[in-house]
Amino acid sequence: MRFFIDTANVDEIKEAHSWGAIDGVTTNPSLVAKEGKDFREILDEICSIIDGPISAETVTLNHEEIIAESRELAKIHKNIVVKIPLIKEGLKAVQIVSKEGINTNVTLCFSATQALMAAKAGATYISPFIGRLDDISQDGMALIEDIRDIYDNYDFPTQILTASVRHPEHVRLAALVGSDVATIPFGVLEKLIKHPLTDSGLDKFLKDWETVPKLTSTSQKG
Ligand code: G3P
Repeated sequence: MRFFIDTANVDEIKEAHSWGAIDGVTTNPSLVAKEGKDFREILDEICSIIDGPISAETVTLNHEEIIAESRELAKIHKNIVVKIPLIKEGLKAVQIVSKEGINTNVTLCFSATQALMAAKAGATYISPFIGRLDDISQDGMALIEDIRDIYDNYDFPTQILTASVRHPEHVRLAALVGSDVATIPFGVLEKLIKHPLTDSGLDKFLKDWETVPKLTSTSQKG
């Protein structure tokens, strides 16, 4: 499973990239708004750090405008994936821009039939928001399983990008059910590494190491 980082924060991207696990980045208007910086400036910086798919979202509601926005975003860098909301006008745009070779990430997906419609329109990625489904007491991961089965049944090439990931268990299950990608916030990526037994084990090793007799540099020479 590929890991994208779900953030528009350049420091978080740089830090997570240094751990060697980041294959791409997803942003959305809310994440960009948190940064208080120009969107284009943020995208340029992200593209200079990560050599992988970088999702940038459109913010218009009719297909002509979504298409125009998509073409502008795609011009910024070869790795830009245009993120388009799962509405009728969005799917009209996906169908057109995907034929032009623009990669798309159809976002705000909350049902298997929505995912099926996005695949039929030619989406490169589908983003089911599992955390937001869990929030309303629906099983987000069951949606990923359903979409996996449906896409496999009919050989749809659309890649499942598990989004709205809230904790490591979401990542573990997404990998088990065969999601192609998980987009993960920085805080959750950190939690994927951390384990209390690793910390206490390391602490004990280092304390024990202090008690090991060490030759001094003088005695080594002698
Ligand atoms: O990028 C879209 C998605 O991951 C949003 O997550 O936590 O706002 O539901 P969240």
